[in-house]
Amino acid sequence: MKLWEGRLHKALDPKTDDFNSSISFDQRMVREDIEGSIAHATMLASCGVLEAQEAEAICTELKHILAQVESGELPIDQTAEDIHTFVEGELTARLGSTGKRLHTARSRNDQVAVDLRLYLKKQCDALYDQLKELVVVLCRKALAHSDTVMPGYTHMQRAQPVTFGHHLLAYAEMFQRDLSRLADTKKRMDVCPLGSGALAGTTYPLDRELTASLLGFSGASQNSLDGVSDRDFCLELASDIAIAMVHLSRFSEEIILWCSWEFKFIELDDAFSTGSSIMPQKKNPDIAELVRGKTGRVVGDLTALLTMMKGLPLAYNKDMQEDKEAIFDAVDTLRMCLTAFIPMVDTMKVLPQNMRKAAAGGFINATDCADYLVGKGLPFRDAYRITGDLVAECMEHGLTLETLPLETYRKYDPHFDEGIYEAISLDTCVNGRKVLGGPAKQNVEAQAKKILQVMGAGPAEKSSDKIG
Ligand code: ARG
Repeated sequence: MKLWEGRLHKALDPKTDDFNSSISFDQRMVREDIEGSIAHATMLASCGVLEAQEAEAICTELKHILAQVESGELPIDQTAEDIHTFVEGELTARLGSTGKRLHTARSRNDQVAVDLRLYLKKQCDALYDQLKELVVVLCRKALAHSDTVMPGYTHMQRAQPVTFGHHLLAYAEMFQRDLSRLADTKKRMDVCPLGSGALAGTTYPLDRELTASLLGFSGASQNSLDGVSDRDFCLELASDIAIAMVHLSRFSEEIILWCSWEFKFIELDDAFSTGSSIMPQKKNPDIAELVRGKTGRVVGDLTALLTMMKGLPLAYNKDMQEDKEAIFDAVDTLRMCLTAFIPMVDTMKVLPQNMRKAAAGGFINATDCADYLVGKGLPFRDAYRITGDLVAECMEHGLTLETLPLETYRKYDPHFDEGIYEAISLDTCVNGRKVLGGPAKQNVEAQAKKILQVMGAGPAEKSSDKIG
């Protein structure tokens, strides 16, 4: 029995039942659907649209239904068209005509819009907490590796030395921006559309501000057409999630490189690695690879949502039922990725000697050699040219800037003296980069502590790395 059997004389062809139904994926909003209904009934009573007793009976029974669903006592009927139909049907089966009064001054169009906002607001909070945890783990690890020298890259070529702590804090910056995007999205999501009706509001004297405040929203939406057809909050959240996934994916790519034999900068804990069915020596970074792989599906979710919305006239269109699977998948995927990723990063073993060895090759201190000459009064462009020649000389003779004899240096420019070796040592190169935002130990420490304070976390406890 469908809701609309008065107007239509045939039941929906069974071949289209599954196609039309959303119960399989909107049942996860059962709590929000019931909370929305309780607020609606309470408001209707306060406005005199429902008798106080009727509203009370409705609210009591709705709470009962929720408790039974959540305890598993009442299975959600998978043949119902959607979660709204299921809850209302169940209520009516129990309360008879009183139950039928709940849908006064309401449509499934404003109902689904309110359910989805309520549900996603909670998901914003859950994602926020997880991202925050990741930032804290990164800062603690950064503190433990504030003076671990590693090569910094551009074009995947060794470029200038940085510290591992500095590299980790680059990700902490990205995830902090993700946090602020989520908070911003939640603010615009925090508007109650209930009372927009099907599209044109209602003739009943509703107190929409009351419904909004009963449900914990900061206000009511201001236009009924927009109230039922706005899905910007899904687009924004999916976009926030896609960006966060891109950050995780870039990080994953680096982790995969770092634990290869070619780099060996880190070793993942065995609990976050897999083996091979045939190659006994293998230890694979599957978790990082999956995070990188799943980024594609989340970008797909965002694309699906944007494409679904782009041609829709006002107000509600059934196309919009497609919003849920996409946004739920994006939320679920990021949550799952973070659940695995955070402890993987927390437990990874850093191999500072290998990082340092890599930083010692590739003429990573060439800029510092040129800067040394600038310190002696040469214009940077001349110093750059001389250093380029020195690098070529080293390569020809299998030397490094550290092992090149002083007399050879002086052949290229008489300004060179013994001080050059100190000037190009890795520690000097790194610790001289004290400029705001630079990789020096003192910067990393100050920045990590500052972020930890913003996150409301202390410096130690969680990270597996000891902080000296
Ligand atoms: N299942 C629908 C959705 O997810 C609920 C709203 C249905 N409204 C309607 N007029 N058919 O969008």
